[in-house]
Amino acid sequence: MRRLLVVIASTRPGRVGPAVGDWVVTRVHEHGGFELDIADLAQLQLPFLDEPAHPRLRTYSNQHTRLWSEQVERADAVIFVMPEYNHSFTAPLKNALDFLFHEWNDKRVGLVSYGGLAGGTRAVVAVQPVLANLGMRGVHSNVEIAWVAEHVTDGVFTATERHERALAAQLDELAVGQGQHG
Ligand SMILES: Cc1cc2nc3c(=O)[nH]c(=O)nc-3n(C[C@H](O)[C@H](O)[C@H](O)COP(=O)(O)O)c2cc1C
Repeated sequence: MRRLLVVIASTRPGRVGPAVGDWVVTRVHEHGGFELDIADLAQLQLPFLDEPAHPRLRTYSNQHTRLWSEQVERADAVIFVMPEYNHSFTAPLKNALDFLFHEWNDKRVGLVSYGGLAGGTRAVVAVQPVLANLGMRGVHSNVEIAWVAEHVTDGVFTATERHERALAAQLDELAVGQGQHG
């Protein structure tokens, strides 16, 4: 069974990230093809990158880096649940990505983006070169959620049929390890 890491990429109080993340996690359980692990960046509380050596050297001097490294290393595939902030992805996500290098290599990655009119698509476009540089392999079926606040009531995200279809397709791609780069 493949091990899937779901990363919640927003950290602010009152965020909708956990609501969208709960939906993803529920569907991952229902899919049945994964062992699930979750990294909520608000709980992970990584500082701004504080390693003296380049991550490619993998000579980590901090315990928080070693723990993050082990958590990412264990995963076969990753889903980033990520909002759009100022036409890009979040600073905590960039920081969490920058901490490591080899651990991300060759991992399949699915994106569940959300925001206003554009459904987080500008965040998706911005994160793709970063993921490519880390050697991650994307899937065809990214999930884009427009006007996310309209789908969240009392902390619960209610997906549309379109969202459901996209996530189901994404999980199928991640489960068999097929990505757009082979
Ligand atoms: C700092 C900030 C910048 C934002 N910039 C954008 C943006 O450029 N495009 C967009 O569609 N939504 C933007 N939004 C709206 C967010 O996508 C929306 O508030 C979403 O709920 C944020 O995710 P979060 O609740 O998990 O933090 C922004 C929100 C914040 C807090």
